[in-house]
Amino acid sequence: TSNYEYIIVAQPEPRVALITLNRPKALNALCTPLFNELNKALADLDGDDGVGAVVLTGSEKAFAAGADIKEMRDKEYSDVFKNRFLEDWGTIGKLRKPIIAAVSGYALGGGCELALMCDIILASPTAKFGQPEINLGTIPGGGGSQRLAHAIGKSRTMEMVLTGRQVSAQEAEKWGLVSRVVGEGEGEVVKEAIEMAKTIASKGQIAVQAAKEVVNAAYELNLAEGLRFERRIFHGTFATKDQKEGMGAFAEKRKPEFTHS
Ligand code: CAA
Repeated sequence: TSNYEYIIVAQPEPRVALITLNRPKALNALCTPLFNELNKALADLDGDDGVGAVVLTGSEKAFAAGADIKEMRDKEYSDVFKNRFLEDWGTIGKLRKPIIAAVSGYALGGGCELALMCDIILASPTAKFGQPEINLGTIPGGGGSQRLAHAIGKSRTMEMVLTGRQVSAQEAEKWGLVSRVVGEGEGEVVKEAIEMAKTIASKGQIAVQAAKEVVNAAYELNLAEGLRFERRIFHGTFATKDQKEGMGAFAEKRKPEFTHS
């Protein structure tokens, strides 16, 4: 359906999109053209009524091995400052549709940060998470220090960011960095993520997108503001046909047929 060089966009299920990072020679290092393609594809899918949820994955060996070190190597402070280097990575956080990361292999540096930008992370047993920027004389620049601190707390974040140590899938699960470790065989984690996306895509989409918005607010607002925001959005769902359909179907003991309206 699309003409990309570094990613593959597919629709494995009627309402589910799958984006596969496809720069195998560099272990899916996130060069600027790759990220531009990713942002373009995600924006298109976010505006596509035929898609309810997106799965983002890499290869068996690497989800993504980070920002492109060879691209960054000769950049000066004035370049990265004036060109707002990596600022456009933030647009993923503005998308309304849920994105599930299916992580196998290396998720390092910007790769770990990209997974953290997604709404749910599923990991294969081979997944390895790390923020190795410290070994390169720099620090995370794609949100890792902030999102990790929210996800796994200060001590574990400090350990990852200050030592650069890679964390196994099992450890990442124990720490709450990922929802679950899934499957044994190749491709299992992607299959499971597609199943999860299918489930999400079958719900009323206004409620799904509202739910994503309010959960994300928990990372930005204080508790009182967050609770107020949640309740307002909750009240707002009573203006949708899907709320009437969902509650009506429950009372009538039938399956709801959401119209996303
Ligand atoms: N940028 C550019 N190229 C990369 C890369 C990266 N982040 N990661 C891997 N590659 C390239 C390698 O240079 C190599 O290319 P050549 O074949 O042309 O030499 C190819 O991918 C395969 O990599 P390796 O030969 O190194 O594979 P390996 O299996 O021996 O090691 C690895 C795998 C441990 C992941 C190792 O590649 C590695 O350490 N990569 C860098 C990880 C890293 O430091 N990431 C953080 C980047 S900084 C960042 O992300 C900043 C930020 O916060 C946004």
